[in-house]
Amino acid sequence: MVSQPLIPVIAIDGPSASGKGTVAQGVAAALGFHYLDSGALYRTVALAAVEAGTNLENESRLSSIALNLKAEFSGDTVVIKGRDVTDAIRTERVSEAASRIAGLAKVRAALLERQRGFRRPPGLVAEGRDMGSVVFPDAALKVFLTAGPEERAARRYKQLMGKGMRATMAALLQEIQERDARDSDRSVAPLQKCADAVLLDTTGVPVEEVVTQVLALYQRAQQVP
Ligand code: DC
Repeated sequence: MVSQPLIPVIAIDGPSASGKGTVAQGVAAALGFHYLDSGALYRTVALAAVEAGTNLENESRLSSIALNLKAEFSGDTVVIKGRDVTDAIRTERVSEAASRIAGLAKVRAALLERQRGFRRPPGLVAEGRDMGSVVFPDAALKVFLTAGPEERAARRYKQLMGKGMRATMAALLQEIQERDARDSDRSVAPLQKCADAVLLDTTGVPVEEVVTQVLALYQRAQQVP
């Protein structure tokens, strides 16, 4: 690994639909930093695996898909070999598959250097589950975002409706709780707040306010010698 300590990273971790994505993009835009949606990487691998009919327990096949994946990321848009898969990676089927393959050590290892490659000047805002704990342990600021499961299900519902997709609140709540349990209980890089991360509960807090809080935390972190 090439160490790049001079390029600052803000690591934003938390459970699904905790608002990480919107907050991370807002912080990146305010600072003019690059943005990494690491969940989109896992989702893209999951989509490729589902479409190829790959057994989701075939760790070596899945890690080879992860290593060889030709995906391009630009803001919210994800393109694989010229095909826009931005919406295709957000379906519940792919969400579930992503959560499963994310528990496989070889898949995580295959994606590690690719994630670190997003660290470019003037800085990076990276969001996911293990940004602060595994991928960027030397991040200048680590934030752990949470929100109550009901609020997260309501946010996901709104997001899916906005895209013309169908869902019910009850099913979304159940899926969110199952995914939380799987992401938190796995043995490899489980979802957890690391000791040096700042906990922000976003239940009922408007996204602009969370962005302002993260920017203030980053400013403070820079002043600490
Ligand atoms: O953030 P998201 O919901 O788009 O992530 C999709 C899945 O990928 C989620 O179930 C957890 C997994 N993931 C992970 O294990 N580690 C990351 N850094 C990002 C996502």
